[in-house]
Amino acid sequence: MSHTIIAPSILAADFANLQRDIEMVNNSEADWFHLDVMDGVFVPNISFGMPVIKSIAAHAKKPLDVHLMIIDPDRYIKAFADLGANVLSVHFEACTHLHRTLQGIKAEGMQAGVAINPHTNVSLLEDIINDIDLVCMMSVNPGFGGQSFIENTYKKVKQLRKIIEANGAKTKIEIDGGVTNKNAKQLVDAGADVLVAGSYVFGASNPTQTIKDLKKNSTIVL
Ligand code: DX5
Ligand code: ZN
Repeated sequence: MSHTIIAPSILAADFANLQRDIEMVNNSEADWFHLDVMDGVFVPNISFGMPVIKSIAAHAKKPLDVHLMIIDPDRYIKAFADLGANVLSVHFEACTHLHRTLQGIKAEGMQAGVAINPHTNVSLLEDIINDIDLVCMMSVNPGFGGQSFIENTYKKVKQLRKIIEANGAKTKIEIDGGVTNKNAKQLVDAGADVLVAGSYVFGASNPTQTIKDLKKNSTIVL
């Protein structure tokens, strides 16, 4: 059996009840916390920053998967390492010297992730795939939760899986945006390893059960 990593996105949590929602994830079958950092420049929205992540880290008992939607992310690599990030993803479209940025993330002891926008072709990652621990494939345009899943993503996952295998890389594929139980299985069948889900989890009447169902439906029986 191959288990898919489920990463609830805290962007959709109730920020007035953040500790309650963090404990829900701690006590659920979820594997990671997905934290979306937006700067209002790279994306047309601002989310949360260091003080909020510090509070989350104090209660979270599972790895922190931080998704930076910011320009010039090199400036903050050390700060996120100090906050306790385990995986740090930067956007392909925001990095001029991506190879250097990834080395910088690893030098701080974190796993290095690269997020790609829906328009970015996966072939652009070919020459750097062995340096990437995780590709965060956006299945919506980054900036907001609660958007509809872009169907072209399935094709991209399959293409990326081929590139990973052809290069003998260990890169994980994460899908971010519009994930529900309607597309989870198909995404995993196409080659996804990690599913991020925000509004589908936190908007549910029973988030714990929703996580359990996502986990169950995305398990591959080998
Ligand atoms: C969007 C963020 C996502 C978002 C996903 O820019 O990167 O992580 O929280 O939210 P849903 O699951 O509601 O699409
Ligand atoms: Zn995200």
